[in-house]
Amino acid sequence: MNITYKVLAFKTKAAATDFAIKKWAALAEDSVKTEKRFTAAVSGGGTPQDFYRKLGMQKNLPWDRTHIFLVDERFVPFNNAASNFGMIKESLIKNIHIPTANIHPIDTAEDSPDISATKYEAELNSFFALQSGEFPVFDLIILGVGEDGHTASLFPNDPAIFEEKRLAVAASNDKLEHKRVTISLPLINNARNIIFLVTGKNKAPVIKEILEKHQQQLPAARVMPQNGELFFILGECYG
Ligand code: 6PG
Repeated sequence: MNITYKVLAFKTKAAATDFAIKKWAALAEDSVKTEKRFTAAVSGGGTPQDFYRKLGMQKNLPWDRTHIFLVDERFVPFNNAASNFGMIKESLIKNIHIPTANIHPIDTAEDSPDISATKYEAELNSFFALQSGEFPVFDLIILGVGEDGHTASLFPNDPAIFEEKRLAVAASNDKLEHKRVTISLPLINNARNIIFLVTGKNKAPVIKEILEKHQQQLPAARVMPQNGELFFILGECYG
């Protein structure tokens, strides 16, 4: 299998975070120059919280032309401590001057994760002006990795990882505390740039499996952009 990606391994979490900030800034500047806007989908979890806080201090970034989407969401209200949007709002959005219309959370006030996924898909279709069967091209998607190899809310053995048509789907995993909604793998793989931001020694075994064995049962190892670039920005977990 021919996968090309760049690995940027740092000794500390802070160094990985700082590099990711520089990468975001460069991609935002490039995208605004060429497309007049920058579209980014961002993940939840513990790892990116420092990144969001530091990103929120970058007042000179083109926030008015930046659109922030969610990679995945727990099916809870935004004010629940488990909400990804709640976390991203606190750590990033409330600290920057960004128009409300540029923020695209996954609505969890629906009756079910399926309905919520369908609604998010409709928003993506409309924002990116997609024809039926097309996938959006995000300028950047930031992903994390779980110790079990999940990424976004795409878990090992969940049929959702084989989704080929939908842009967003409900995730199922009996071990999860909350139901979830996630963007799909073909959407992820259609991005112009994908960054895995992964830090901490506990992630070393799974990163080794992904990078050295490309274990296809791990959803994170199925991330292979068709035309885009893939970066692993790693802190304390590789090399
Ligand atoms: C989420 C995610 C998920 C996350 C990994 C890693 O909502 O939790 O988007 O895919 O990136 O679970 O999470 P940690 O950074 O907390 O280890």
